[in-house]
Amino acid sequence: MKIKILRIIRERMGTVTLQELCQECGVSKETVIRLIRQLVSDGYDIELEPGKGYRLNSYPESISSCELMSRINTQWAGKRVYYREETESTNDDAKFLAEEGMEHGSLVIAETQTAGKGRRGRSWCSPKGSSIYMSMLLRPDLPVDRASMLTLVMAVSVADALSQLYDLEVKIKWPNDILINKKKVCGILTELYDHPDHTYSVVVGTGINVNQKGFPEEIAEIATSVLIEKGDSCNRADIVLAVMEYFEYYYDLFAEGGDLSALVDIYDAYLINRNEQVKILDPAGEYEGLAKGINDRGELIVELADGKITTVYSGEVSVRGIYGYT
Ligand code: BTN
Repeated sequence: MKIKILRIIRERMGTVTLQELCQECGVSKETVIRLIRQLVSDGYDIELEPGKGYRLNSYPESISSCELMSRINTQWAGKRVYYREETESTNDDAKFLAEEGMEHGSLVIAETQTAGKGRRGRSWCSPKGSSIYMSMLLRPDLPVDRASMLTLVMAVSVADALSQLYDLEVKIKWPNDILINKKKVCGILTELYDHPDHTYSVVVGTGINVNQKGFPEEIAEIATSVLIEKGDSCNRADIVLAVMEYFEYYYDLFAEGGDLSALVDIYDAYLINRNEQVKILDPAGEYEGLAKGINDRGELIVELADGKITTVYSGEVSVRGIYGYT
């Protein structure tokens, strides 16, 4: 109900009366007043103009469920948000909630993670209150071998969101690192879970460095944040909401086609090293080639020195520019 009240006050450009709020929400005056007091103590500057009603003057920098759910305008992506002040890993929370029946598209988001997980068994640096740690649960109606492609769907969505919101030059390092100025600003970890009824669900976990001013020494050279690149701090909810809108759009295209064919061009436009020489670090042996773009399964197409074309599947392989990390 608090979410509904906030949405109404927010969407009304001017004021909204107590009576209107009671009618639209179907609750008593006392309930509305109590919930508005809660919103004020959460940091919302809601003013009561005598004879006119309530007006929202300003709102806090917040990624609470109330803030996100009162602003989201998607059909299903991020419609339901589970907020945590602190958790071990939002991916693990989403997995747990999936078993409890959490709906497709729901989001778990946290202020900090005490055991944030990165790819290849690494950890994900998750300082409190400055960045975005979120995991979306998906229940795709597609063969299970398509699940890993969702990582690329999220990569394009984050790239679109950051470039559209802040006019930054965003790149993707195949398959799913988002870079600004050749440094990593976002990482994505997709995990697949089988259920006893033979269905499966996918958790797409996304970490975006938003308002971090610096990084631990081990990653300082390769990590960046939106704040560092843009020069001032950003509202995290703006980013989450933009990512959800793009993700819903791209996911629906992906689900309709059953592969990434509708997303190949947009992904390739973001691809760092496109048409450049890259080094493929395959456990079976390193080799070099020209990165051409992705195919409709999300594999990297590489042209070898003899002109032959090969495709690289993400699994254990990583790709480097020939001069370092990117
Ligand atoms: C990478 O190594 O690049 C992937 C990092 C993924 C981090 C995110 S933060 C939210 C979600 N929860 C986790 O434990 N990991 C992912």
